[in-house]
Amino acid sequence: MNHPAFNSQIAANDNDVPATSDTPVNAPAWVKHRKLIDWVQRVAALTKPDRIVWCDGSQEENDRLCQQMVDAGTLKRLNPAKRPNSYLACSAPSDVARVEDRTFICSERRENAGPTNNWMEPAEMRATLDGLFEGSMRGRTMYVVPFSMGPLGSPIAHIGVELSDSPYVVVNMRIMTRMGRKVYDVLGEDGEFVPCVHSVGAPLAAGEQDVPWPCNDTKYIVHFPEARAIWSYGSGYGGNALLGKKCFALRIASTMGRDEGWLAEHMLILGVTSPEGRKHHVAAAFPSACGKTNFAMLIPPESLNGWKISTIGDDIAWIKPGKDGRLYAINPEAGYFGVAPGTSEKTNSNAMATLKENVLFTNVALTDDGDVWWEGMTDEAPAHLIDWQGQDWTPEIAKESGRKAAHPNARFTAPASQCPSIDADWENPAGVPIDAFIFGGRRSTTVPLVTEARNWTEGVYMAATMGSETTAAAAGKQGVVRRDPFAMLPFCGYNMSDYFQHWLKVGARLGDLQARVPKIFCVNWFRKDAQGRFVWPGFGENMRVLCWMVGRIEGTAGGEQHAFGLSPRYEDLDWTGLTFTRAQFADVISVDEAAWREELSLHGQLFDTLQQGLPQALHDTRDQLTGRLAA
Ligand code: GTP
Ligand code: SPV
Ligand code: MN
Repeated sequence: MNHPAFNSQIAANDNDVPATSDTPVNAPAWVKHRKLIDWVQRVAALTKPDRIVWCDGSQEENDRLCQQMVDAGTLKRLNPAKRPNSYLACSAPSDVARVEDRTFICSERRENAGPTNNWMEPAEMRATLDGLFEGSMRGRTMYVVPFSMGPLGSPIAHIGVELSDSPYVVVNMRIMTRMGRKVYDVLGEDGEFVPCVHSVGAPLAAGEQDVPWPCNDTKYIVHFPEARAIWSYGSGYGGNALLGKKCFALRIASTMGRDEGWLAEHMLILGVTSPEGRKHHVAAAFPSACGKTNFAMLIPPESLNGWKISTIGDDIAWIKPGKDGRLYAINPEAGYFGVAPGTSEKTNSNAMATLKENVLFTNVALTDDGDVWWEGMTDEAPAHLIDWQGQDWTPEIAKESGRKAAHPNARFTAPASQCPSIDADWENPAGVPIDAFIFGGRRSTTVPLVTEARNWTEGVYMAATMGSETTAAAAGKQGVVRRDPFAMLPFCGYNMSDYFQHWLKVGARLGDLQARVPKIFCVNWFRKDAQGRFVWPGFGENMRVLCWMVGRIEGTAGGEQHAFGLSPRYEDLDWTGLTFTRAQFADVISVDEAAWREELSLHGQLFDTLQQGLPQALHDTRDQLTGRLAA
């Protein structure tokens, strides 16, 4: 028998299961949603927190929680003269990234989760979670965190409520989403919301001393797509714990999009305005820690000064067909949970400006004057630091031991509104019309700097077969090439083959309006030379590639056809202000036949895995590409 807490599938069933709880629920008068209150009561009866706090999202509440966490040793307040209203959290060394092997899609039917997701029968999973969550919040406070993904009250927004025993989650959710009391005004007495339950899985016995970063070695990140419910256990970090982000806005939302004809994607959204003032919008999917935040905030090199980039989103896009038949994208988030290492004035000065105040840093290093530092922030490291694990750190120690001052997946949580390049339309509920999709992986070899797909189907093929070297954003081995279709491998809430079909369908619907079909490009900023150095300068210089894409959209830029699509010749890019030779360009743009034969065989292996329901159009495309490569 599953615990009544699982009857929290608010949208799915009307059961009012009575719950007995020793914890008074004490919902404030401004919460008028009976089923929500009953659900909170049922989860409290299961998890047995000492108290329940209904978060209102106020500054006062935020300051109180931060102070509590400072007192508990979870947060350090940074020097207010250097970094006003900002804090540093350092996690347990075992809890530093998403845990893909502990992430489950528990659809009723296994086929609906598909071969790329972990699956367990929903009832069996509920029984497992029942055991884990039983008393899991003892000695702790359960926070009720109401949030909106997308602007409050907008027709494209969706609401969630996260019950969490982590105050760190609360203060992060306040930056990453529209969180607080106003959500209840939108919800009213019976509005729909996605129920999200989160526990760090570290109950405290009476009088037991807490640790700075409670968590559990057993971790479960679980999605019930039919019920649209999320249960997360054992981790306090990032996407494992901030359930509005990957769990809701990608895994659950992707299934909503499949059912309702829209797309939930792991994509940045940016606006690009030409010197003449023509504006286009692109959405780009790169796997975790492969450059979305950087691309979204790109500052064009001075030599291309007339061009301007504006930021709509840096991680997630919800994309829907508009009345005019075009695709419109919104950013459902309100903040950036961005990779710190590598972020500098040189690489991303917009991010650096965003980080001036009101920021939560996680797993970066602490300077002697109470500020933060991470690898790549400055050319020269400070002479002394406290590293993310609380140890003394000096450049000498680092040289000897290879120890990093900041964890490679160290992150900042910062309000999007603080970004200097924020687009005027970033909160427009209508979204922005998308002119091109870009897909890109991290590949030291094989994949050219940029390729334009011949048509929608070949673009979908490119995205579906994309490979990328794994990064520190997920636990596990780093630097191994794996297929990461659409940068959605860890985030698709249903069968990947059905997801490809869904993309083909969305394209077919656009088909009547040929001019409106977004172009699809594939990029790779990460080709390396024999010495292992990046050949392409990247970052702001990526603008040259984006300019070429705009030229393609406007029909003014040229290129050269090859087996996989169309790439620019040297003379098709604007090189003003950059020394980049023809030979260097050849290194990043070349298509090596042998490498591509191997690549196509890897596509074949992926297709074998995804066999069931894989669209015939993708098989056909692979045959055509193989044929063209041989010709
Ligand atoms: P998630 O938040 O994990 O989804 O990642 P993201 O795609 O937003 O990645 P982000 O922009 O934070 O970049 C991750 C790392 O890649 C950082 O260390 C960047 O400095 C580095 N990076 C970003 N763009 C480039 C580029 O054009 N060239 C090179 N060589 N590195 C880059
Ligand atoms: C990613 O891993 O793609 C992220 C960070 O954006 S997390 O929110 O932890 O998933
Ligand atoms: Mn991401």
